[in-house]
Amino acid sequence: MTTLFQSTFVLIKPNAIQRELVGEIISRFENKGLRIDAIKMLHMSRDLAERHYGEHRDKPFYNDLIEFITSGPVIAMVLSGPDAIDTARYVVGDTDPLKAHPGTIRGQYAITTAKNIVHASDCVESARKEIARFFAPEEVLNYSMHCRASI
Ligand code: CMP
Repeated sequence: MTTLFQSTFVLIKPNAIQRELVGEIISRFENKGLRIDAIKMLHMSRDLAERHYGEHRDKPFYNDLIEFITSGPVIAMVLSGPDAIDTARYVVGDTDPLKAHPGTIRGQYAITTAKNIVHASDCVESARKEIARFFAPEEVLNYSMHCRASI
C-alpha cells in the first residue's frame, strides 16, 4: 500500500483539559511521529459545534454532544505525517472506549463514548473540512523535522 503524506484534524475535548491530560495526549501523537502544524485553544461557540457535528443532528445523543463540547475550552490541532488520518485514529482508538485497545488514548483515558477525550478526522474529506473550519490557511505551518526518521 502506498504511504501518503497527509494532514488531519484532532480536537482535545473539554473533559481532557479538566483532567489535565493535554500534555499526555499531545505526547502520544508526537511520539508516534506526527508533526504539529497548527494548535490553538478555544471555547467552541454553539454555532461552531453545530457545524462540526452537523452529521449527527438526528442522533439521540446530539444535544448532549453539543452541550458537552461547548462546556469548556478545547484544543484544536492539525497533525501531519505518513498516512496521518489513519495514524491519528490508531493512536486515538475506537469511538467506544469499551472497544478501544488499552494502549490507545480512549482505551486508557475514556470510559464513555459521549466523553471520549479526543476527536480525529475519519477521512480525507472530513480532514480537509475540519481543518478549514478551525484554522485559516496561514495558521497551518509546513516545516521540516530534520531529526525525524518518519517524515
Ligand atoms: P467524535 O470522534 O468526536 O465524533 C462524533 C462524536 O459523537 C463521538 O466522538 C462521540 O463523542 C459522540 N458519539 C458517537 N456515538 C455516540 C453514542 N452512541 N452516544 C453518545 N455519544 C456518541
